[in-house]
Amino acid sequence: MLTTSNPDNVHHVLSTNFSNYPKGPKFRRIFKILGNGLFNSDFDEWRKIRGLAQGFVNHKQFHRFMAKINHDFLENKLVPVLDNASQQNLVVDLQDVFQRLMLDATCITATSYNPNSLCFGFPEVPFLKALDDAGRTQIKVAVNKANKLHIFTEEELNKLVYLHGALYETLRLFPPAPLQVRTCIHPDTLPSGHKVNSKMKIVFSAYAMGRMTSVWGNDCLEFKPQRWITEKGGIKHVPSHKFLAFSACLGKESAITRIKSVAAVILHNYHVQVMEGQLVTPKASIVLHMKNGLRVRIKNTWP
Ligand code: HEM
Repeated sequence: MLTTSNPDNVHHVLSTNFSNYPKGPKFRRIFKILGNGLFNSDFDEWRKIRGLAQGFVNHKQFHRFMAKINHDFLENKLVPVLDNASQQNLVVDLQDVFQRLMLDATCITATSYNPNSLCFGFPEVPFLKALDDAGRTQIKVAVNKANKLHIFTEEELNKLVYLHGALYETLRLFPPAPLQVRTCIHPDTLPSGHKVNSKMKIVFSAYAMGRMTSVWGNDCLEFKPQRWITEKGGIKHVPSHKFLAFSACLGKESAITRIKSVAAVILHNYHVQVMEGQLVTPKASIVLHMKNGLRVRIKNTWP
């Protein structure tokens, strides 16, 4: 096995010599639960399914559907749960809240079934348990009516460039998929000069790459949303072999809009006080989690 965080190696494996590096049989065994779909396929089969999936994800109707589901979930699920936490002066685990929101929204999108895991009382969710085992200022400027509940439209979200930078900065330092794997077919030499043999696994560490001075500069360990903002006030493009959080993800745009909308609704409508005395630390797993969650107290900002 060879682990690398060298962007040239990543570009070589994922683009230049792509046909020599499938995901491989072990990857398929680990993600067997996801069936024989896009995520678990390689080469011609992958190309065929990816083309279909791309058409689906880029379709206007899918976009409208996602926007509607997103709005419904914010208004009818997230906000009532946070309002209740505020009224009852409860301490909640924000990571748990987000996981439940993600589970319900994903199930509704994929199967039309709502497991209703995000509700008062936070009932135990076997699926989440199984998974576990394995810019406020700018927002106030964008929408200056902070005295009642506001859920942001997509047009408003597009103007929140600083929030976009903060989101990218979070994903740079804490990529949800911290490691990605490919398997070599024919012996090869990587741009770094390292030789790889047939059947050798190449592991990319998105986590390490997000913290390298050669890629991000001497301030690579600092959280600086402004590093993503161009002089003209847009978002800088960093190629995916350097900013590996999404890699070849088909849902990138949809994910960004969804995350921004959740962050905006929370920052605009609530004060979030992180509880003191807790150890916030990453948990090593296929998906990057906080080991002990994140306990916070929520308060409405409007009467
Ligand atoms: C923060 C949110 C997300 C992150 C960080 C993320 C990241 C990733 C990564 C790292 C991959 C593996 C790509 C590769 O094998 O090179 C991937 C694949 C994929 N993602 Fe996402 N993703 C996110 C949200 C979403 C959403 C919301 C959707 C759907 C609307 C989605 C759809 C897909 C699909 C279809 C693939 C398979 C692509 C392929 O194998 O060709 N993702 N994602």
